[in-house]
Amino acid sequence: MSDNALLKPIKIGPYELANRIFMAPMTRSRADNPENAPTELHAQYYQQRASAGLLITEGSQVSKQAVGYINTPGIYSKAQIEGWKLVTKAVHDKGGHIFIQLWHVGRLSHPDFHGGELPVAPSSINPNDKSYTPQGFKETVSPHALTVQEIHATTRDFKNAAENAITAGFDGVEIHSANGYLFHQFFTNCSNVRTDEYGGNHENKARFFFETLDAVGRTIGFEKTGIRLNPSAHGFFGITIDKDTIPTFEYIIERLNDYPGLAYAHLVEPMMPVDNVPYAVKEIAKHFRPRYKGTLIINCGFNPDNGSRVIEEGLADAVSFGKYFISNPDLVERIRRSAPLAEPDLHTFYTPGPKGYSDYPFLQ
Ligand SMILES: Cc1cc2nc3c(=O)[nH]c(=O)nc-3n(C[C@H](O)[C@H](O)[C@H](O)COP(=O)(O)O)c2cc1C
Repeated sequence: MSDNALLKPIKIGPYELANRIFMAPMTRSRADNPENAPTELHAQYYQQRASAGLLITEGSQVSKQAVGYINTPGIYSKAQIEGWKLVTKAVHDKGGHIFIQLWHVGRLSHPDFHGGELPVAPSSINPNDKSYTPQGFKETVSPHALTVQEIHATTRDFKNAAENAITAGFDGVEIHSANGYLFHQFFTNCSNVRTDEYGGNHENKARFFFETLDAVGRTIGFEKTGIRLNPSAHGFFGITIDKDTIPTFEYIIERLNDYPGLAYAHLVEPMMPVDNVPYAVKEIAKHFRPRYKGTLIINCGFNPDNGSRVIEEGLADAVSFGKYFISNPDLVERIRRSAPLAEPDLHTFYTPGPKGYSDYPFLQ
């Protein structure tokens, strides 16, 4: 057997996982039915990848208001819960484990998704991005700034979605607090200029996130709750870093130590080069590992070599792979055998049907 550190078992929450090769959450836009419910096709896709130590699903909207892209699945209706049951059963039948990523896009949406109503955000600041609507790409707009009552209602949406996830048979949930979506919008000055208890200092910017983490964790168990952060995101999804951004993330990640039972913190290395971005952290695992005592999953740009190294160096406990899991359903077996990895076809990332989704071949 290979002594690759990625192949060593790991315990996450109550689960004994077979390896440290996790599948990163990836939107694949195959829920192209009126209910935005997962189907047998989703079940087949996730089952093919069930040898991952942990599968984390694509972002799944926690409410109607949380949506920002066409054909992404939800986890708030009965039909969606029934659809996800197909997925969790298919994965569990193969001995796998699966968390669902709970998602609210906030201002990265468009009135076309909301019957003409504005998308929501901490403050009424247009991200100046594009939203992929049923009528194609459209310019984003200045969103509605959430009232305190509406913030509390959104926390309840996450709590309900987490309950639904357990009903659907998921092993746990990941709160999507990265990549410029709603929680991230609260963390950064470029999107949050509130003067109430949800804006200003670090504690206030993180308040909505921690209130939601508390609500979800107390409902389904912190050991079944993970979170995702992308501290050096800059120049995409409407996010720009300033001198307060990294200190805000340091505050959040250090405060996660108050949750010793948390399933994990899932951190993302810079998705774009940040060498010339003032105040960005270039090496996320190196910077944040010493600050967080719990289980740390690292992501972005890893391959079997640097993935095993980051674990051996003690900078992370597990690695999540995104694109390699699209094109290598048997990624774990390929790493075990040191077999070549197939490259994914970018053109079928978000297209309907099995092509580029469930038709990538396994090794012979
Ligand atoms: C097609 C595609 C869809 C993605 N959708 C999501 C998503 O729903 N939620 C999320 O947190 N990240 C999403 N990501 C980011 C991935 O989780 C991951 O951070 C990124 O692919 C970098 O990892 P990699 O280098 O191993 O591919 C997506 C990436 C891709 C390629």
